[in-house]
Amino acid sequence: MRIALFDSGIGGLTVLSHARRVLPSEEFLFLADRDHVPYGTKTEEEVRGYVRDAVTFLIEEQGADAVLIACNTATSVAAEEMRNIYDVPIIGMEPAVKKALAQDAERRVLVAATPITVRGEKLRRLIEEYDTNHLIDLVALPRLVQFAEREEFVSPRVEEYLWNALAPFDLIRYSSIVLGCTHFNYFKDTLRRILPKTMHFVDGNEGSIEELARRAGVHTVPAGVAKAPCRFFASGRPITGTEAIARLERSIERAARMEEIV
Ligand code: DGL
Repeated sequence: MRIALFDSGIGGLTVLSHARRVLPSEEFLFLADRDHVPYGTKTEEEVRGYVRDAVTFLIEEQGADAVLIACNTATSVAAEEMRNIYDVPIIGMEPAVKKALAQDAERRVLVAATPITVRGEKLRRLIEEYDTNHLIDLVALPRLVQFAEREEFVSPRVEEYLWNALAPFDLIRYSSIVLGCTHFNYFKDTLRRILPKTMHFVDGNEGSIEELARRAGVHTVPAGVAKAPCRFFASGRPITGTEAIARLERSIERAARMEEIV
């Protein structure tokens, strides 16, 4: 089966890294919409157009049998519309609010996402459904997407940005931070230094892959060393050239390393 993952940029590689290891017998395509990243600070209408183009390219030109939109922002504004257009399974990602509340139903939960996701109707409905004790707080961290795209993962600037953005929250009262943007997974080492030890990371990566496997009718295996093959695209063009490939490899390597941090 040919499975496509798509994100505005390198964030989706944090999902791909796990997907290739639990579905080693499938064939993957990955598209980063580098021409239009970041999505989270654009208008919903703009993002809807980008998602339409990306999904059309993956299904109509590359023959994808299933698409995982490895981007909470794109899912928030356009997943439903894509499902109405195409028959192949289209799986989206949304902040793992339900999972975080299931792990601890008493302490507070901080959901970090992009501005579009934070003010979106989809997240509002999700919170309304599951946050019966009103434990959720939201924070938009758009600059992390920019830092990630220029591969600035660990720096005094990143730390200062996070300290300032998280300063309004009394973090010791929180059980977890939900990484509601796939780019945020790249900052788990920095976040680990800032957050109290009592706070855990929660993301929707594994849950979305399980959902993808279920909907596509394939079976996951425990993550091992074998990795499914993958072809990479940047906004509809194959990624070629030594520097572009080296950049991709650095991101994949970092994504795999961040997976180990809980
Ligand atoms: N990685 C994306 C997400 O999960 C969006 C980042 C962006 O382009 O702003 O929301």
